[in-house]
Order: sequence, then C-alpha cells, then structure tokens
Amino acid sequence: MQRITMSDGTTPRRRRLALALVAVLALAATAVAMGCGGSGTKRPSGPTPAQIAARKREMTLGAQVFAKKCALCHTLAGKVAHPTFIESPIPNLDEVKPKLAYVRRRIEEGGFDMPTLSSELNASQARAVVAYVAEVAGRNVAVGASSADQASGQQVFQAHCQSCHAIAGRAATGTPAYPGTDFNNVRPSVKLIEHQVRRGIRDEMPSFRGKLTDAQLEAVARYVNAVAGR
Ligand code: HEC
Ligand code: HEC
Repeated sequence: MQRITMSDGTTPRRRRLALALVAVLALAATAVAMGCGGSGTKRPSGPTPAQIAARKREMTLGAQVFAKKCALCHTLAGKVAHPTFIESPIPNLDEVKPKLAYVRRRIEEGGFDMPTLSSELNASQARAVVAYVAEVAGRNVAVGASSADQASGQQVFQAHCQSCHAIAGRAATGTPAYPGTDFNNVRPSVKLIEHQVRRGIRDEMPSFRGKLTDAQLEAVARYVNAVAGR
C-alpha cells in the first residue's frame, strides 16, 4: 500500500490540517451561536450523587460513541481493532495514557491518518468520548524505571529522539517535516515504545533497529515511559 504523495513530494497532512482547522472554526462558531450550553453551574468540592450519576451517563455515552466512531481503528479496554486500510501505526489505546486535553485536540484536529471527527459529533458526544478515553485508556501503561535507567535512557533520548519529540517540559530541538508525538501529552507503555522505535514510521520516523543496542533501546523506552505524560 502506498502513502498518498502530492506533486511536491509531501504527504497530505498539511491539507488535512487545513481542512481540520476549518471544521474546528465551524464548530466553534456553532458553539458560540448555541450559547455554549453545557454545565455552567459551579461544582462543590466532593461529587454529589447527582454528579456521580451524570458521570456514569457520560461514560456510557462515551463508550457508545467510541464503539461507533473510534473502535474501527483503535484497540481499547481489550477490544482489539483490526484495521487493515491504514499503513501507519494506530496507537493501541490500552498502551498509551493520553491527557484529556490531548484527546480532545486529536478529535478536533485529526492526525496524519486519523480523520477529523468533531464535525461528526455533537458537543455532548464529543465531550463524552473524550472523557471516556481519558478515563479508560492506558490500562497496560505502568511506570517502572529506576533512576539509573533514566540517566542512560535520557542520554539516548537526547541523541536520537529529542530533535522530533518534546518531553518533560522541553520542546523538540529540531524542525522535522512531521513533528513527533509530544510526550508531555501522552505516556506510552514500554512495550509500545520499543515496538515503535524498532519499527519506525514510514516517511516520518526512522527505524532504530540495528542502530541502537537492545540495552539502549530498553533504557530509552523506560525513560520515556517514566517521564512522559506529566
Ligand atoms: C481511521 C482510523 C481512526 C479513527 C476512526 C480514529 N483514529 Fe485516533 N488515531 C488514528 C491514527 C492513525 C493515529 C496516530 C496519529 C496520526 O494519525 O497522526 C491516531 C491517534 C489518536 C490518539 C493519540 C494517541 C497517541 O498515542 O498519540 C488519540 C487519543 C486518538 N487517536 C483518539 C481517537 C478517538 C477518541 C477516536 C474516535 C472519536 C479516534 N481516535 C478515531 C486513527 C484513527
Ligand atoms: C525524524 C523525527 C523522529 C525521530 C528522530 C524520532 N521520532 Fe518518534 N515519532 C515521530 C513521528 C512523526 C511520530 C508520529 C506522530 C504522530 O503520529 O502524530 C512518532 C511517534 C513515536 C511514538 C508513538 C507515540 C504514540 O503515542 O503513539 C513513539 C513511542 C516514538 N515516536 C518514540 C521515539 C523514540 C524513543 C525516538 C528515539 C529513539 C524517536 N521516536 C525518534 C518522529 C520521530
């Protein structure tokens, strides 16, 4: 399967982002026109029974929206997706723990191979699926690095990854054609990182198979897993 290439040699990410932006602006305009709705009331400190019930309803709606709009591509809560029509890796959401605001942004902006979905969802569906994913994702993501692991892993990261990936409050140092995942927003499992680093992503991220030793690979994976997503 070939990734689509424009006549100038670029892939259509910029175009998609432009389209996504139009969709987001349209959505924002609608939200303003509707007076933003939602829960305008101030919350007391502890959740009330009504709030707990509302949260439960939101999780149920979120799970329904996920099953309809996302489960086609993403594995979550052990329900394995088998997408065959997309070439680049689709994050297994049991192997990554994304922050809520990042999930929201992904839905609004889409990605390289992820469509913009906010235009297909009404405001409460979008809110619910974002809350659901933020709550449920990352069940296989544990933090387990010792500080010794972190020092050697950090060195590998600075030498090989930092040009494309932001982490631990530091911005990426390079200007890659496609910016890598911002690890301030998402904590991947050691397993997912090792897999991704070995495999690479065609046209976007080099494969480090044979370029890093197994020990370096494990160290960098443990480092990223330990410090990402905070
Ligand atoms: C057509 C397949 C497809 C669908 C449908 C889809 N996604 Fe994605 N998603 C992807 C791909 C591919 C990526 C990897 C990033 C990219 O494309 O740039 C991704 C990335 C993400 C990420 C970031 C994960 C990370 O580790 O950085 C989140 C969160 C996410 N998707 C949530 C959702 C949600 C929620 C829905 C449903 C509302 C959804 N996706 C629907 C393909 C899809
Ligand atoms: C030339 C730029 C580049 C370099 C160098 C690079 N990456 Fe990436 N990486 C990317 C891009 C681009 C993506 C996909 C981002 C997306 O889909 O939105 C990515 C994705 C990832 C992911 C998947 C994250 C997720 O949540 O789905 C991991 C893990 C990762 N990279 C780890 C690393 C590590 C560790 C190194 C160093 C050994 C590294 N990368 C080096 C560009 C790079």
